Amino acid sequence: MEHIVKLAYLLASVLFIVGLKNLSHPKTAVRGNMFGALGMFIAIVVTLFDKNIVSYEIIIGGIILGSIIGMILAAKIQMTGMPQLVAILNGFGGIASVLVAGAALLEVMAKPPGESSALLIPQFTISTNLSAIIGAVTFSGSLIAFGKLQGLVTEKAVRYPLDQVVKAIVFLGAFAVAGYFVYDPTDANLYWILCGVGLLLGILLVVPIGGADMPVVISLLNSYSGIAASMNGFVLDNNVLIIAGSLVGASGIILTQIMCKAMNRSLTNVLFGGFGAVAESASDDGDFYTGKVKSTSPEEVAMVLDIARKVVIVPGYGMAVSQAQHTVRDLYNILTARGIDVEFAIHPVAGRMPGHMNVLLAEADIPYDKMKEMDEINPTFGDVDVVIVNGANDVVNPSSKTDPKSPIAGMPILDVDKAKTVIVMKRSLSPGFAGIPNPLFILENSLMLFGDGKKMTQEIVNALKE
Ligand code: TAP
Repeated sequence: MEHIVKLAYLLASVLFIVGLKNLSHPKTAVRGNMFGALGMFIAIVVTLFDKNIVSYEIIIGGIILGSIIGMILAAKIQMTGMPQLVAILNGFGGIASVLVAGAALLEVMAKPPGESSALLIPQFTISTNLSAIIGAVTFSGSLIAFGKLQGLVTEKAVRYPLDQVVKAIVFLGAFAVAGYFVYDPTDANLYWILCGVGLLLGILLVVPIGGADMPVVISLLNSYSGIAASMNGFVLDNNVLIIAGSLVGASGIILTQIMCKAMNRSLTNVLFGGFGAVAESASDDGDFYTGKVKSTSPEEVAMVLDIARKVVIVPGYGMAVSQAQHTVRDLYNILTARGIDVEFAIHPVAGRMPGHMNVLLAEADIPYDKMKEMDEINPTFGDVDVVIVNGANDVVNPSSKTDPKSPIAGMPILDVDKAKTVIVMKRSLSPGFAGIPNPLFILENSLMLFGDGKKMTQEIVNALKE
């Protein structure tokens, strides 16, 4: 039986790795998801047969309840609300690790003294403590991130005097408690004190982060939830949990690094929670746009497109809100049928979750080879006749290069301003996620097309047909 269990865990682990590999390309992503799900199914079934820890009735009840809640959440959530959902799911992962490690600890402590002290070896106590700290940080940090993204608490980065010192003290305090518990693991209360300190640390780490830095913190918390689960694997001596947790932890860190690069933040800053601390932008939006904006109409845009040879479409959060992807596909079809070269410029943090734009465009069957990453397309904007910015704002905001006080200072952007004509499609002059004005809208070569992304795209398509 033991060998069968180990083999099944090995198979599940291989399926996770193959699944991850497949997830790295949109073409194979669905298959990757299937492999991952199959791996998880095998791991769960084998674990249930192997260890009868609690009654099957309770486990099945939990699975049914969890599945119902999950299905309702998945059906109800809008694509634009995905970061909040991911944030809260990360948090559930964190608290699960805290509770599982705590339960394992209580179980060991309930044994007769001789047996219990033989089990309280450093592998067990260290991994229990790490589950507590990392899981608790993930839980409270994710709740704060959820609150920020949902607009329940301020989205802004909240700073206060000596905040870094306070964080460092709490961080050291957590390790002091953990160290003492490893040295003398007889008092279970220390575990719960550690959880409390971890919860406080999570709040302190995420509160000073805000605005455009939120994608970084979400992917970092995702990684933390994996590391906490992996620590649980050591607590329970369960190989598949160690491997699955490590994979989540490692892929979360890689994603964090990609996000950091996209936001031009260093990983050291992220790890020590010093990011998102931005000064107020120098540009005040009071008179920013007055008398400087040129607006256009779908008919005029159609005329500009009529003589274009090379067009780039920049999708952003607004395209997701208006669900314009299928209409954008119609525009793509009509332009390419006329021999116009059309490409899509994808910024790594466009929208509200990693890969958000790729998912929407893939849903509308835009060919993958037409979706260009920022680094690939940026050098080509000088040759582009028309750029259509469909509901993007921060990712095309040139103040990241010109205003050192801007909250997005240093963030690489899509250099659409280099194109001959830029059409910006949005409903108003309202700012994007970072809450700042966009000098792109008042550039000589920019034209604003005010309206809903889907409606305006449809009207351009109609005008082109006419
Ligand atoms: P944003 O800067 O958020 O701007 C989106 C724009 O879409 C808004 O200015 C809004 O202007 C417009 N819009 C909203 N509804 C629309 C509709 N129905 N039709 C047309 N336009 C509409 O978007 P972005 O350029 O994609 O940048 C993403 C931002 O989100 C970045 O700051 C990024 O850091 C942050 N963020 C990203 C992620 C990930 S991982 N992608 C996660 C969290 C946060 P109007 O109201 O005037 O229409």
